Amino acid sequence: MFEIGTSYYPETIDPSEWERDLDTMKKAGISVIRILDFAWTVVEPREGIYEWEWLDRFIELAQKKSIAVILCTPTATPPAWLARQYPQIMIETRSGERSPFGMRRDVCITSPIYRHFSAQIATELGRRYGSHPAVRGWQIDNELMGPERGAPPECHCPDCQWQFRVWLRRRYPTVKDLNAAWGTRFWNQEYSDWGEVETPRHYHAVQGQVIDYARFYSESQVAFARLSYSALRAAIDKRQFVVHNATGVFNRGINHIEMARAMDCAAWDSYRGGNAPPYLAFPSLTHDLMRSAMHKPFLICETNTDRYAYPAFWAEMRAHGARGMIFWHWRSIRWNQEHMSDTLCDYSGKPRPGRLEKIAAFREKIAFDSELPRDFPTSPAALVYSYDCVRYDIRQTGPWPHNAAAISMYYPLWNGGIAADVVEPGNDLSAYKLAVIPSLCLMDAAHAQVIRRYVNDGGVVVACGPTAHLDLHGKYHLHPGALAADIFGYELRDIRMDKPDGVRVGDGEVLPVDAFGESITATTARVAATFVGGNETGQPAALVNNFGTGTAYYMPCVSQKLAAAIVRLAAGRAGLPVFDNPHEMVSIYPHWSGKGVWYFNHGKDAAAIAGRSIAGGDFCFISR
Ligand code: GAL
Repeated sequence: MFEIGTSYYPETIDPSEWERDLDTMKKAGISVIRILDFAWTVVEPREGIYEWEWLDRFIELAQKKSIAVILCTPTATPPAWLARQYPQIMIETRSGERSPFGMRRDVCITSPIYRHFSAQIATELGRRYGSHPAVRGWQIDNELMGPERGAPPECHCPDCQWQFRVWLRRRYPTVKDLNAAWGTRFWNQEYSDWGEVETPRHYHAVQGQVIDYARFYSESQVAFARLSYSALRAAIDKRQFVVHNATGVFNRGINHIEMARAMDCAAWDSYRGGNAPPYLAFPSLTHDLMRSAMHKPFLICETNTDRYAYPAFWAEMRAHGARGMIFWHWRSIRWNQEHMSDTLCDYSGKPRPGRLEKIAAFREKIAFDSELPRDFPTSPAALVYSYDCVRYDIRQTGPWPHNAAAISMYYPLWNGGIAADVVEPGNDLSAYKLAVIPSLCLMDAAHAQVIRRYVNDGGVVVACGPTAHLDLHGKYHLHPGALAADIFGYELRDIRMDKPDGVRVGDGEVLPVDAFGESITATTARVAATFVGGNETGQPAALVNNFGTGTAYYMPCVSQKLAAAIVRLAAGRAGLPVFDNPHEMVSIYPHWSGKGVWYFNHGKDAAAIAGRSIAGGDFCFISR
């Protein structure tokens, strides 16, 4: 069963209205509620003083109504008493100011004090509700995030400085090694003592420093989640699961795969992003990343309730492996923030027009897909996603080139019905028929070797540039591209390409280029497409190279249209069936069991496909 739930904030609602709200949920087919994110002070109004009575009553009421509960550890918003007593738990901005109390996600998760109190509240909650029959599972914190351009949750407090240095000293034997790895000599950034090394406070900080800081920050977030996980686990029943709801924002270098693996199962908050190709496919790419983290079903902890949500969007979660989805959120909040957020009910608890009906109809329609496997089979294709490339992009002028390349190359899989797992650079590819490699501009020899071995042994790879320009510290290789160029059969002419008018496959139409790449010439490869217009006219825009017993395709730029053509060619070469799909807003996904195929129409108008007409926003399942 695809379970449907909602977030609820009982601490903001008069207790006399709880029962009516729960009854309305029940009628709408809501069987699980997620509560307590951001509700620390109402259970611990003073240090060590707990008030459980109201929460006991609420959870018992939910149990009476047969609605299961997911409890959150409320650590995304510290209590005012904690912030006053220990101001050092608040984030320190780049300019050295402490974030004042009054927001959320503005607390330093490396702070030993904050970690102590976070583990303590998790323990207390676990002791109280860890064997309560109504409590099905737990969520740790809310959307732990990574550093971005100077905004919280980037933190530069003394605790972070200290821990960053400890982290660096585990990786670099001496300061000299650190200088060499980061390439600090240019612009006089060299250090002579560990005490001089700090977190990167400048926008144009040394790349190696920025990348290492983002790695450190990601590991710190995972460590923080692990700490709460252990505190809970020591106090709760085995049958209760623990997850963290990863944010769908992937430009901050948090390794969501590692985060998921630190929990019992993967989970994320799937809000609909772009409404046009290729970003339309971003939620599915993230579902695939979450499923592949453990090859197990995952959970959607938050999703839209509003006009951006529709049956195809929800059903796609299920198809890609979600065991349930939780709407954010039930009833509009009258107080403080998020007044205008979309909800299923208004401020008084009255259902908003049409929303519950839409969910009820969806529940009925999805009921046929009643089971998920404990372990998902490996997909035929793999997409290689690099957090280090994303980290390199954090301080670039954007728009996050690795993510742009990843989504451009994922989109043809999404549109053509090819199921893909998401793996990281260096992961073994031998189980896959096709490997899609979007712009791994950061690469080391070991990563290149995995690709080389895979193709040599018969694998099919399709990659887009720039590839292997920099090392894993963000320093240019002496010979950019050279680490992997033999696999693809090219030589780099220039690391940058002049803007062409477009690309052409054979004598087909001119296709647009979305992001410039590098300028290359073929060595052993055959040219499959060329650039049109400007200095690049006639230069290769796509190559096919026979390497060992496999085939490697290469595009030196990001072009969604070209990627669509080349990924199709590569899939054909790998023996993967690609669906004929004339609709750019329609996605296709084979059922994990092989028993049929899902079709999702993300467009407004009806789409005719596979002998059916699918209404705008709707989906259908065709059994084999
Ligand atoms: C989520 C967040 C929720 C709420 C929501 C608004 O990212 O976890 O607490 O703020 O966005 O859309």
